[in-house]
Amino acid sequence: MNTPLGIALIGCGTVGGGVARLLLEQSERLAARAGRPLALRRVVVRDTEKPRPAALPRALLTTDLQQVLNDPSVQVGVELVGGVDWAKQAVLSLLEAGKDVVTANKALLAQHGAEVFDAARRHGRAVAFEASVAGGVPIVAALAQCLAANEIQSLQGILNGTCNFILTSMTEKGQTYADALAEAQRRGYAEADPTLDVNGTDAAHKLAILVQLAFGLAVPVDAIERRGIADIDALDIRFAGELGYTIKLLAETWRMGDKLALHVSPVLLRKQAPLAMVRGAYNAIHVVGDAVGDALFAGRGAGQMPTASAVVADLIDLAVGRAQKTFETLKLWSARTQAPPLFPSASVRTRFYLRLFVEDRPGVLADVTRVLANHHISIASVIQHEAPEDHEGGRVHLVIMSHTALTGDFRAAVAELDRLQRVVPPSVYFPVED
Ligand code: NAP
Ligand code: HSE
Repeated sequence: MNTPLGIALIGCGTVGGGVARLLLEQSERLAARAGRPLALRRVVVRDTEKPRPAALPRALLTTDLQQVLNDPSVQVGVELVGGVDWAKQAVLSLLEAGKDVVTANKALLAQHGAEVFDAARRHGRAVAFEASVAGGVPIVAALAQCLAANEIQSLQGILNGTCNFILTSMTEKGQTYADALAEAQRRGYAEADPTLDVNGTDAAHKLAILVQLAFGLAVPVDAIERRGIADIDALDIRFAGELGYTIKLLAETWRMGDKLALHVSPVLLRKQAPLAMVRGAYNAIHVVGDAVGDALFAGRGAGQMPTASAVVADLIDLAVGRAQKTFETLKLWSARTQAPPLFPSASVRTRFYLRLFVEDRPGVLADVTRVLANHHISIASVIQHEAPEDHEGGRVHLVIMSHTALTGDFRAAVAELDRLQRVVPPSVYFPVED
């Protein structure tokens, strides 16, 4: 029998519980794939009395990380705690104690990747993080290994399962935003603080990781402009549908000469577009590389077992010795890496969807079109319904689709429209991608 790989789970909640189940219930299958047993030695949690997976021996539970650090039979610490401060300290301690690390913590890597990776190099250890982006979708391995021959030109992804689940539920079932979010939390998709999901920060964390993998560049998370989904009204979903579009929260990055453009935003996509058809908690990433052309990766982006699948794949890679080689050759994140020059979002050219709530009186449409024209924005189509449900107190929803315009011009136009007396601010606008 080959020497087992000794594993400690730091955190045994949604994802950790799934990893424990795989390790304990599929041990023969995993040993065959890894060439040696994957042995679960310890499980660190906050509260040892909470219910855990049935197969987990209670004797493995502890609240004391030090027991893992001091245990020579543990070679790998799997950080599945979440948050940044305690998790960072735990990961640095594991590395210092000579343990390799597997983590699903995108917030930690996006904010402190350089510190964590420099520490791993200093201690001769490896960090593996397949589960940190897109749950069960193997996008980290795809970028790090399978697409290594390419110069990546762009990435466009649905990277937050919670948001995609909420938007799908609102679109297809007419569910309210609050009900859909509560269901996403019940199903274990959301972060402990779901604000990070719905305000676009979680997707920005994942985008920062993908940028590091695809371009070798370290984008500060604060530099990623982001909008979330909390402001999307059922009305916008209905109007987008009428126009032949679906609203998705996209994280996107592309090269613009020697600069990098990137953002997280709700976007109107044609209903037939491949990413528009990604439903529920599924994620998908569209990658364009100079040799491969287009490649699309899709699958379950959040939830217990899909994420555990990615974590255990990293453990098998460590057991085999592949992850250590990948870690060493990729040379990801370092304090010496420069932040890339970013393409200003105001200079991005795109079409826009705009919804205004205006007084239903003579001259209002003329006022609106004059402001748009003054900012060089050409109108592609206009919708204003007569139906009573589109009117309220003498006001009506007015939806305008623009031709391609500069984002800076469009933002300036909306700011001016919102100052008109006969427009009720704030007006709602999203980019449109055909
Ligand atoms: P979770 O259900 O909240 O579980 C967190 C676990 O960490 C719990 O077992 C908790 O202990 C333990 N913990 C928290 N603080 C601790 C501390 N100070 N000391 C010891 N243990 C502590 O979180 P999760 O959903 O599994 O997510 C874990 C990580 O995976 C996060 O980084 C998340 O972003 C990432 N992730 C999650 C998903 C998903 O679909 N959920 C997908 C991809 C990545 P108790 O059980 O005793 O409270
Ligand atoms: N909260 C995250 C999401 C978990 O909903 O996508 C997966 O990273």
